[in-house]
Formats: sequence, structure tokens, C-alpha cells
Amino acid sequence: MLASGLSDAFFESLQSAALPIEHAETLPPACYTDPEFYAFEKEAVFNHEWLCVGREDWVKAPGDYFTTTIIDEPIIVARTRAGELKAMSAVCQHRAMLVAEGAGNTRGFVCPYHHWTYGLDGALINAPAMDKTCNFDKSAFGLPTFKTEVWLGFVFINFDADAPPLARRLSALTDALAPFDLAAADDQRPQAPGVYDWNWKVMFENNNDGYHANRLHHGPLHDFVPSALSVFPELPKDTAGYLRFNGTTHKDASFNATQKALLPIFPGLRDVDRNRMVFANIPPTLSLVVGPDMVIYLIVRATGPETHEMDTGVLVAPGASTQEGFGHRMGMNMAAAMEIISQDLHVDALVQKGLRSRFAVRGRYSWQEGAQSAFNAWLTPRYQAAWARRKDA
Ligand code: FES
Ligand SMILES: [Fe+2]
Repeated sequence: MLASGLSDAFFESLQSAALPIEHAETLPPACYTDPEFYAFEKEAVFNHEWLCVGREDWVKAPGDYFTTTIIDEPIIVARTRAGELKAMSAVCQHRAMLVAEGAGNTRGFVCPYHHWTYGLDGALINAPAMDKTCNFDKSAFGLPTFKTEVWLGFVFINFDADAPPLARRLSALTDALAPFDLAAADDQRPQAPGVYDWNWKVMFENNNDGYHANRLHHGPLHDFVPSALSVFPELPKDTAGYLRFNGTTHKDASFNATQKALLPIFPGLRDVDRNRMVFANIPPTLSLVVGPDMVIYLIVRATGPETHEMDTGVLVAPGASTQEGFGHRMGMNMAAAMEIISQDLHVDALVQKGLRSRFAVRGRYSWQEGAQSAFNAWLTPRYQAAWARRKDA
């Protein structure tokens, strides 16, 4: 916990997290545990950054919609009759009931409570028995809408109407992933989200981390991606994401007991893509684990200072999911992935416990933790800028 609250000294101290990795130290434990810091972080990060909420594939047809929640904000993403992608708050502008749950196809959103009816674009179309209500202007009670952007088939929203566009700040990731053509990939949509009792950054840093790859996960399911083959490419200064290439000990490797791709290889891959994995991250929500036959996408949704949810989906080559035996082959990959993920989850839960301890310190990094450094380089200026804004206000 922060003994003396947020302060200039605290935010100055964060600078050491953003130093070159040889000199850097980890963020203070309070950044992962403290409710006041989380409240600050919502404004510093979540209110202004692009947040991945799902795949465009989930709302292909007019009337399709899905719902999600991030930082306690219930959200609807819908496809209008005109084919436009819309993101909006799910909170009824009458008395705050949620106007939609789950996913489906609809003509509009009828609030179950008193039947106020909203269009797929969020406009309030009908509000029964409001004719005696003075100065009630329907057009002022639409669902609040958010900016959207689609990158490689992933839908991002932004609560900040003035946020600069995302994709041009993702060039390093776009270039690395171009051969996979993820916008056209077959999507294995996430089932119910995982619910976790640790800070969203603990999850994000674990998704990032190559240092633990053949230590925590040492064994036949993971040894083909050794930590020593981590490569951290130089990134543009204003990058909105970062990545690690990790060489594999053989071509077309994949997470399963055979260590070989069981599904069709993405058709556009070059030799270099078939001899490595890519771990790509767009904080604060999206992590990608990219191999020659399968891309696992993880959508991390913060729900509190020490809690978050995560949607886990999979992308495969176009047409792969309709080939005979796909379910069995995917089952082999997922069995391995689940075993690896359970090792990660065990660590994450205990890291959060450790971070709450009075003996948790600001640690130091190995060169194999370059992605943690990139994450800190992304977070720290956002924290510091938000602190400066708060002081100016
Ligand atoms: S709360 Fe939605 S119509 Fe009343
Ligand atoms: Fe791991």
C-alpha cells in the first residue's frame, strides 16, 4: 500500500522503471495492489488508451452485437443496418439498467426494465409514457457512444473522443504480423471469461515474459521456445505496442506433445515466420501468442485493483476450422496450452500475494525481460503525464 498517498516523489521514482533494462527496476508493488493507484490508473491509462474488446467477426451481420465490461463499464458493440460498427455504453439512460447482455442479433436494444428502446447506433427511439414529462428531449438520452478502430480484425474502443488513431502507432507489430493476415483468419471465439484475483499488469507481464519460458515451463511442451532465443526488436518512439520474437529449435513448432504444427500453417508465412514465435502486446488489453499454425489472443479486462477478467480466443488459417479432424487437433494444442497456462496462473496468484507483502521490493531485470522494459516504457510516461494533468487541474 502507499504509505503517504500519491505524490510527486512517488511519480518521480517511477522513472527508474523506464531506464534501459540494464539499469531498470520493477514498478513499485503499490502499482499492483493499491486502490488509490488503481483509481488513478483508470484515468491515466484506461480512459484514454485504445481498449481491445473483441473481434470484428463477432458482429459480421447487421444487427449482430456482443457485450463486454472493462473497468466497470458495461459496453455493447453492434453492427448497424447500414453496416457501421458502433460501440456504446450498455447503461440505460433512464435508471441505469443494462440494456443488453451476452451476444446475439437484434433490431435494437429494448431495456427490459421500462422498455426504453435504443437503435443499433445507440439513439433513443422510443420511451413509453414519457409524454407528460416536461422538457424531455429523446435525442439527449441516447446511449453514450465511443470511438472504434479495427486492427487486424480486433475491435478497439476508446473512451476519449480526442484520442489519436491507433494503427499508425502499431507499425512494428503490423509489419511482424502481416504474413499471418489475421483479419482473414478463422476465429475460435472465447467461451466464458477467466476471472482472476490479481492485478491486470501481473497477467500482462506474464504474457510478456520470455525469461520464465523454459524455466517455469521446462518440459516437453515448451522447451522448443528457449528463453535464450528471445529477440526484442527496436520500436518506434511513439509505439502503442511492443513485441518479442522467440526463435524455436525447429521449424513449424507448436504447443502440443509432438512440438509440431498439427493445423495448417498460415498460408503467407515466410521461412523466418516458421522458425520463431511472436509475442505481441497492445497494452492495456491485448496479448497475442503467435505461432505458425495458431494464434492465441488474450483480452485482459481490468475489474479492480487486484482483479481482472480475461477472454481467450484462437485464430487459425482460413478454412482450417472446417477441415476434418480439426477439433481433435485443436484439442491436442489446447490440452498443452492449458497445462502451460495453469503453471502461469499458479505463479500469477502467488506473485499477487507477494506484492502485498511488506517485503516486496523493486526488483531488477534480466536481459531476457526486454518486454517488461517495453511495458514500463509505455506505462511510465502515461502515469507521469496523468499526474501532471491532475496537479494542473
Ligand atoms: S432503466 Fe431502462 S427503461 Fe427504465
Ligand atoms: Fe508462461
